[in-house]
Amino acid sequence: MSMAATCLMLLTLALRASLIIPLVYGSDNDSDKQALVAFKKSLTDPDNALQSWDGSGNPCNWTNIYCKNNRVTTVMLGHTNLGGHLVPELGGLSALEYLSVFNNKIEGTIPAELGNLEKLQVLGLSENQLSGGIPPSLGNLKSLNLLLLDSNRLTGEVPSEIANLPNLNRANFSNNIDLCWNFWPTPTFVGNYTLCK
Ligand SMILES: *[C@@H]1O[C@H](CO)[C@@H](O)[C@H](O)[C@H]1NC(C)=O
Ligand SMILES: *[C@@H]1O[C@H](CO)[C@@H](O)[C@H](O)[C@H]1NC(C)=O
Ligand SMILES: *[C@@H]1O[C@H](CO)[C@@H](O)[C@H](O)[C@H]1NC(C)=O
Ligand SMILES: *[C@@H]1O[C@H](CO)[C@@H](O)[C@H](O)[C@H]1NC(C)=O
Repeated sequence: MSMAATCLMLLTLALRASLIIPLVYGSDNDSDKQALVAFKKSLTDPDNALQSWDGSGNPCNWTNIYCKNNRVTTVMLGHTNLGGHLVPELGGLSALEYLSVFNNKIEGTIPAELGNLEKLQVLGLSENQLSGGIPPSLGNLKSLNLLLLDSNRLTGEVPSEIANLPNLNRANFSNNIDLCWNFWPTPTFVGNYTLCK
C-alpha cells in the first residue's frame, strides 16, 4: 500500500471514530427516553403518577425510574392505578434490569419485543388485565430471575422456550384464564398444570 493510501485510510478511520462514537453514545439515553415517552402515551394515568415523564431533561430524573451510568435500569410502576397498554418500544430499553407494573389495570397483550431485554432480571406484570398469549420470545431473557405473570387473563401455551432459562428462580402463572403447559414444569413454575392438547 502506498504512503498516500495508508494516510487516507487512517484519516478515514479517525474521522469515522470521531463521528460515530459520540453519535452512538448520545443515542443511548435518548432512545431510553423515547421508549418511556411512547409507553406513557399508551397509558391512562388518572393519578398523574407519570407527571414528570414530560419528555424533557434526563429520564433518569423522572419518578419511578432508576438509572446506572445514565441508562435506565429500573422501571417501577407497581400499584399506580395505570390503565392502557404495554408497548413494543419497551423492548428498546436495552439496559433494563427490572420492570414492574404489578397491580394496575393494564390490558392488551405482552409485546414480543420484551424478549429483547437481555439484561432483564425481573419482569413483574402480576395483577393486571393482560390477555392473549405468552410470547415465546421471553425464552430469550437469559438474565431473567423472576417472571410474574399471575392474576391476568392470559390464554394459550406456557411456551417451552421459557423452560430452560438459565437464571430463572421463580415464574408464577397462577390465576389466569386458560393457560396450558407445553413442558413438564419444575417447582420453579407456579400455576395450574394442565398439559396442552
Ligand atoms: C436532574 O435533576 C437535578 C436535580 O433536580 C438537576 O440538578 C439536574 O440538572 C437534572 N439533570 C438533567 C440532565 O436533567
Ligand atoms: C445523556 O447522558 C449524558 C451524560 O452521559 C447527559 O449529559 C445527557 O443530558 C443525557 N441525555 C438526555 C436526553 O438525558
Ligand atoms: C402466585 O400468584 C398467586 C396469584 O396472584 C399468588 O396468590 C401466589 O402467592 C403466588 N405464588 C408465588 C409462589 O409467587
Ligand atoms: C386452577 O384450575 C381450576 C380448574 O380449572 C380453577 O378452578 C382454579 O381457579 C385454577 N387455579 C388457579 C390458581 O389458577
